[in-house]
Amino acid sequence: MGPDLDPVDRLLIDELGDLPSGRIAVVGDDHGALAAAVAELAGTGVVAHSDSLVSERRVAAAGVEVTPDLAAALTGAHLVVLRLPGSLDALDEVARTAVIVGAPDVRVVAGGRVKHMTRSMNDVLAASFEQVSASLGRQKSRVLHAAGPREVEQTWPRSRHHDGLDLTVHAHGAAFAGTRVDAGTALLVSQLDQLADTDATVVDLGCGTGVLAALLARRFDDVVALDVSAAAVASTLATTAGAVDVRRTDGLTELADASVGAIVSNPPFHVGTAKDSTPTLQMIDDAARVLVPGGELVLVYNAHLPYLQRLRDLGPTDVLMRDRSYIVTRTVLA
Ligand SMILES: C[S@@+](CC[C@H](N)C(=O)[O-])C[C@H]1O[C@@H](n2cnc3c(N)ncnc32)[C@H](O)[C@@H]1O
Repeated sequence: MGPDLDPVDRLLIDELGDLPSGRIAVVGDDHGALAAAVAELAGTGVVAHSDSLVSERRVAAAGVEVTPDLAAALTGAHLVVLRLPGSLDALDEVARTAVIVGAPDVRVVAGGRVKHMTRSMNDVLAASFEQVSASLGRQKSRVLHAAGPREVEQTWPRSRHHDGLDLTVHAHGAAFAGTRVDAGTALLVSQLDQLADTDATVVDLGCGTGVLAALLARRFDDVVALDVSAAAVASTLATTAGAVDVRRTDGLTELADASVGAIVSNPPFHVGTAKDSTPTLQMIDDAARVLVPGGELVLVYNAHLPYLQRLRDLGPTDVLMRDRSYIVTRTVLA
């Protein structure tokens, strides 16, 4: 038996209306239950895209065709069944791309938990569709319907040049911080010259738009940027312009033992919309396996997060820098 539908999935299924005979895209499913239920109703023609590789694997395991490429999933789609993303920019990219590459009659049925939904989501959908309406709420969930595609321009990925870094940051809608440089990242950037020289691989773990990877590639020959997010990987490929090996992976799991000279990271503090330290604690544990002896793990994080003790278990840990919100630490593998 596959995963269970949650209340948002059930409301989405009830609100689908008449199914088209052509392609249906299921975007943002985390567990596979929604995509599998839509596929069962439709018979054929369902393609799913989930930004996270972890989610994508669950959807594939539920037996639905998946693609890491949002535009590929939306191409020719008549109906987009969407779990609303956390960010308005991610929603805007889905809506615009659906209008631009979808079928001429493309419509969106988008659902979420009421506590995560804002009126701005209606406005974002209304920028791409003539008609936007909301369902009645049920079990703390609600669905938005968007139909009647407008003439829109593709504005994703977006880019911004940062003079201070002499770097153009490219960002897809779902990438962390967009074209901004996050405050924690900026603090970490100020400490990058503390890294020891190494001929081994240097990793930007959870690379987002690739700011750290791009800067590391100016000094180190072998830089690998890792992120679980398809939008992050596409953004980093653009920001680093071929200077970095960019891979979509879940943490450090695919790196060989004792193969890495340094890991630099502004690590995740969310899984989906929920605050969660588990992936970062796992990454700290995995760093012990992939770092060479004497290799460094340099992290920036919100000072209240529970990482310092775990880092000290790994090896001697210094605080390189702190401000009112963030702390930058360096741990050397014993
Ligand atoms: C706080 S953001 C930092 C992004 C970027 N390095 C920056 O400084 O702007 C954390 C990043 O970790 C990624 N991430 C979350 N879980 C991950 C996992 N299990 N494996 C790899 N990356 C992950 C997120 O997609 C996000 O891009």
